[in-house]
Amino acid sequence: MTAEYQVHGAVAVITLNNPPVNGMGLETRTAAVKGIQQALADDAVKAIVITGAGKAFSGGADIKEFNTPKALAEPSLHTFIATAESSTKPVVAAIHTVCMGGGLELSLGCHYRVAMPGAQIALPEVKLGLLPGAGGTQRLPRVLGLEPALNMIVSGNPVASEKLPALFDEIFAADADLLTSAVAFAEKIADVRPLPKVRDRKVDYPNHEAFLQFSRNTVKAMAGPFPAPLECVETVAASVTMKFEDGMKFERERFLHLIQTTESKALRHAFFAERVASKVPDVPADTPVRPIKSAAIIGAGTMGGGIAMNFLNAGIPVKLLETRQEALDKGIATIRKNYENTLKKGKLTQEKLDQRMGLLSSTLAYEDIGQADIVVEAVFEEMGVKEAVFRKLDEVMKPGAILATNTSTLDVDQIAAFTQRPQDVIGTHFFSPANVMKLLEIVRGKATGKDVLATALALSKKLKKTGVVSGVCDGFIGNRMIEQYSRQAGFLLEEGALPEQVDKAAEKFGFAMGPFRMGDLAGNDIGWAIRKRRYVEKPEISYSKTADLLCEMGRYGQKTGAGWYDYKAGDRKAYPNEDVNAMIVKHSADLGITRRKISDEEIVERLVYSLVNEGALILEEGIALRASDIDMVYLTGYGFPLYRGGPMFYADTVGLPNVLLAINKYAKGHQGGAWKPAPLLSKLAADGKGFNG
Ligand code: 3HC
Ligand code: NAI
Repeated sequence: MTAEYQVHGAVAVITLNNPPVNGMGLETRTAAVKGIQQALADDAVKAIVITGAGKAFSGGADIKEFNTPKALAEPSLHTFIATAESSTKPVVAAIHTVCMGGGLELSLGCHYRVAMPGAQIALPEVKLGLLPGAGGTQRLPRVLGLEPALNMIVSGNPVASEKLPALFDEIFAADADLLTSAVAFAEKIADVRPLPKVRDRKVDYPNHEAFLQFSRNTVKAMAGPFPAPLECVETVAASVTMKFEDGMKFERERFLHLIQTTESKALRHAFFAERVASKVPDVPADTPVRPIKSAAIIGAGTMGGGIAMNFLNAGIPVKLLETRQEALDKGIATIRKNYENTLKKGKLTQEKLDQRMGLLSSTLAYEDIGQADIVVEAVFEEMGVKEAVFRKLDEVMKPGAILATNTSTLDVDQIAAFTQRPQDVIGTHFFSPANVMKLLEIVRGKATGKDVLATALALSKKLKKTGVVSGVCDGFIGNRMIEQYSRQAGFLLEEGALPEQVDKAAEKFGFAMGPFRMGDLAGNDIGWAIRKRRYVEKPEISYSKTADLLCEMGRYGQKTGAGWYDYKAGDRKAYPNEDVNAMIVKHSADLGITRRKISDEEIVERLVYSLVNEGALILEEGIALRASDIDMVYLTGYGFPLYRGGPMFYADTVGLPNVLLAINKYAKGHQGGAWKPAPLLSKLAADGKGFNG
């Protein structure tokens, strides 16, 4: 049963019941339309109320149905709405908690709308690369007026019901019972005729063309590569310039166009990928979690300070531990400075700043942190230092405390083995700047307890992070892949490209930053240190020496004012440097390479496919649970363009046989040994499948 039918006196109540958010899938639509027909056939029924069970009126069309035959099967959402609108008995939408997308569009087709205060009202389709496709662009402006409707549709942001009085015939008191109140309302209006229909209203906006042109210009400038926002403007414009029926037809046409675009598919992929990432097959949703009411952080450096801010922002008290008072003072001063900058930008109040800083304390003694529910270690990236810290934590932390490490490359299992409680040890790999970046790689050691993993996943939500689970391997998901990307970037320099060309090509593809600008931001010395370790541990892996030569010139990146590029104080712009470019050209000559012109297409393919190929290995080894987790890592941690859906999704859109073809071609070129097609990639390509099915 996906919609229930009950009669309360002279009022029929149809309750959408399709958990979790009453998405209007085929079964729900069918049952609801049947309900309306049943009410119309029953002479004792004078009015109809439509409401939603559980935690939503409706979250809209069932997104899982999109691009499946069910989406278009009758009764469609249009038919459902038209059935409500053309009902000869009044239909009242009784709204609570969430009323979004097709849910709001349904309510606009009803004759009346009543609501509880605090209900989240939105047409969020634009966030999925779509526009409201069931009359929202035509009916909302007729109710709210052109400008407020356009703002809601283009932004997709929710507005509380009480802030939209024009939308509702009645907003009940916060303590009212929705169903009782809605039935009473329906009884009151049962005999009123003619039945009010939104479609009969006109959108009145003097000089609408000037406003619409202004909106087009603004939205175009902000939408970047996404076509949906501008399409939203055009369809809303039709509510003024066209007759209702023509506007509806136009809306339909544009919706059907958008739903086929890669941009929309990528956004929908990201929507589900984000939600599925928190699900781990052998850790059921009802796994008990440990309470996290206090935290300790070891190391108040770059990462420790940022990690502390996440806890403070979530209202969790933090104790910072360092080896020296000066390091503590510096760390705390940086945290305060960050908050003060946010205050200056008007994004934080003084009161909140004081509250957050009030939750922060510090110590030099391990005994002071023993009672914390979680401790996150963010000390130097050296196994010896980690060992000393974890042995100490094992001594002082209360039983049941979670011991987390922020290591970016070291073996979490080895770290866990320094303690007598490896089940309590987990990796929480934050990304820099930790107070800003959404990604949290949660590294599951071989002994990590299921409740510890479940707690870390729940914590990531509390800290407003996207938690993605990774198994233990060098670099986990994100950094293991980026290493291949960086290797290709280096080889491209040896063969004929310069940093500026590589960065520009990557940025044109949509990366927030090309590999060399990213290196300058992160610090080239970090990669250098990792490579030095690799030269000893894994001599079989080849790297371009160009980046080492750069570091030997003392050019570590933005922090030294010079890296692949030059930087000027107070200006983050990257200025190409002649000496660096000469060094690159000379290095090619030293290697006996005749530099060639490399196309942007080749640059992008080599950068992106190196990610894809390593991603396929990671998937095959079970380090990532699913391809979409890898995409989430790249979308939230590495500036991969959202409209391309992540590297694995992107590979699917290109077609895996094409990816394989290109990889095999590059395997015959310079440093071709870096390319060994992942068996999973070859298999999926041969089977005509994609990473995401
Ligand atoms: N269809 C199908 N499933 C949906 C859904 C929808 N419209 N909206 C949410 N869900 C599912 C989620 O996938 C998730 O499933 P899971 O438990 O299996 O992982 C579950 O509902 C809960 O979602 P959240 O974790 O996001 O729960 P919240 O309580 O934080 O948020 C929400 C609820 C505000 C409804 C949020 O999920 C949301 O913003 N959903 C998207 C709503 C939307 O975009 N609607 C427009 C759909 S397109 C449309 O209507 C087209 C029409 O114009 C023709
Ligand atoms: P950092 O050098 O900025 O800070 C480390 C801090 O730890 C210093 O303040 C130091 O005084 C303190 N420290 C060292 N030994 C200690 C000990 N025994 N007890 C207490 N404090 C001690 O280093 P950063 O960049 O913050 O890195 C910390 C960890 O986070 C490393 O494991 C690193 O690999 C990881 N990481 C770093 C990222 C980055 O971009 N910087 C990104 C993700 C993870």
